[in-house]
Amino acid sequence: MVKICCIGAGYVGGPTMAVIALKCPSVEVVVVDISVPRINAWNSDHLPIYEPGLDEVVQQCRGRNLFFSTNVEKHVSEADIIFVSVNTPTKTRGLGAGKAADLTYWESAARMIADVAKSDKIVVEKSTVPVKTAEAIEKILTHNSKGINYQILSNPEFLAEGTAIQDLLNPDRVLIGGRETPDGQKAIKALKDVYAQWVPEERIITTNLWSAELSKLAANAFLAQRISSVNAMSALCEATGADVSEVSYAIGKDSRIGPKFLNASVGFGGSCFQKDILNLVYICECNGLSEVACYWKQVIKVNDYQKSRFVNRVVSSMFNTVSGKKIAIFGFAFKKDTGDTRETPAIDVCKGLLGDKASLSIYDPQVTEDQIQRDLSMGKFDWDHPIHLQPVSPTSIKQVSVVWDPYQAARDAHGLCILTEWDEFKRLDYEKIYESMRKPAFVFDGRNVVDAEKLRELGFIVYSIGKPL
Ligand code: NAD
Ligand code: UGA
Repeated sequence: MVKICCIGAGYVGGPTMAVIALKCPSVEVVVVDISVPRINAWNSDHLPIYEPGLDEVVQQCRGRNLFFSTNVEKHVSEADIIFVSVNTPTKTRGLGAGKAADLTYWESAARMIADVAKSDKIVVEKSTVPVKTAEAIEKILTHNSKGINYQILSNPEFLAEGTAIQDLLNPDRVLIGGRETPDGQKAIKALKDVYAQWVPEERIITTNLWSAELSKLAANAFLAQRISSVNAMSALCEATGADVSEVSYAIGKDSRIGPKFLNASVGFGGSCFQKDILNLVYICECNGLSEVACYWKQVIKVNDYQKSRFVNRVVSSMFNTVSGKKIAIFGFAFKKDTGDTRETPAIDVCKGLLGDKASLSIYDPQVTEDQIQRDLSMGKFDWDHPIHLQPVSPTSIKQVSVVWDPYQAARDAHGLCILTEWDEFKRLDYEKIYESMRKPAFVFDGRNVVDAEKLRELGFIVYSIGKPL
């Protein structure tokens, strides 16, 4: 029986390993993590992450060929294939701070593998890492190899949160990079055999290590670039009377452009787009490619511009001040169908409104008050470092209340901002909401989810991204 161990039981490690266990009953999969609460949650009825379809997959496999454990060393030493899926946040200090990837967690995982391994291992980079990381990892592993043969593979993950299970069951492609030596090719085949149990062979791409590592950063940069492009267009639409949805539809019909990832929004969020582009920018700068670095940096600048443009629109529409006004916030997660708030645009928007002394009443169906208070008290880039896991300081922000009912959030509010595209926001009783709000009642739809014309008929003043006022 092939034994797989995955280091890191997070948004990637957990769902990915659950699907491998589901599709490969003859493989034993153990997911290990240093976080005791995380592993306890994976072993309970309340999984640590919300992801549609995940509960069912875990229930089918847990205890059969899927296990979650904090006994990291034991399971690493017993495994044939070790996936490393630890966090790779942006460095906050020292060389490359604010851009380069912080590989502390990766390095400590690699050192631990080298310490406890007693047999040959295939070590798989599942985390998103800078191109050439495999070389560094190889050095750590082979430095004290005790005669053990290590093969490093790059197998980046392309799942998106909220659709992780579907993405894993039916991936556009699986990418495996490895050394072009006989041992490297043998390792590629071993991993390919795992995926081939449910992924059609033509969708499993094999490359050299550096192409695989770089393809992951490139894919995220291209996806984010599309969003910044359409968001840049949204500003121009507002200035000219064009409608960004019509423009997106028209350009997306061109088969060379395609319709996906062209939804204008308050800005992209999530743990990876910004971090991976910053990482790419840093690599370009280190290689003396300043023009290339500038090009990609602009994707983030436009995203920041979009978020501040939204805040400015709220404040300027509400007679240039929101001081002392109640603003309801619908949605805090970085996208629908997840409770993840890492780098959510809601943090910047809420901080911007708080900076103008607004009082906020926040509703999100999946995000707790603790999480929101923590996010709003944190500094930039703190979110993926251990501080993120610390309890909220007793001085939680007083102008922020978090409620579990959208109608309560909107009661007596002067304005309402929609920051996540949860489906339920389309179905709310806006007449009831209008009646309970202060007048004039404003709606700022940062996701273009509500029917602006219908809301205007009810009496709302509505601002949608990239649409005529
Ligand atoms: P995460 O923070 O949810 O999970 C990482 C886990 O690793 C944490 O539970 C942490 O406790 C654990 N960990 C850290 N160091 C460890 C060690 N030495 N030993 C054991 N456990 C350790 O992160 P994530 O969202 O799952 O992302 C992981 C990687 O995958 C990142 O590089 C990210 O860029 C990449 N990625 C993420 C997504 C996504 O949708 N979140 C998608 C594709 C790729
Ligand atoms: C993204 C990629 O889509 C995945 O392929 C990748 O594996 C992952 O990053 C990663 O490396 O972490 P994710 O961040 O989970 O996945 O979610 P997306 O659906 O890409 O959305 C990212 C952000 O862009 C969200 O805030 C979303 O609301 C926003 N978005 C997306 C738009 O504003 N407009 C769009 O048209 C699409």
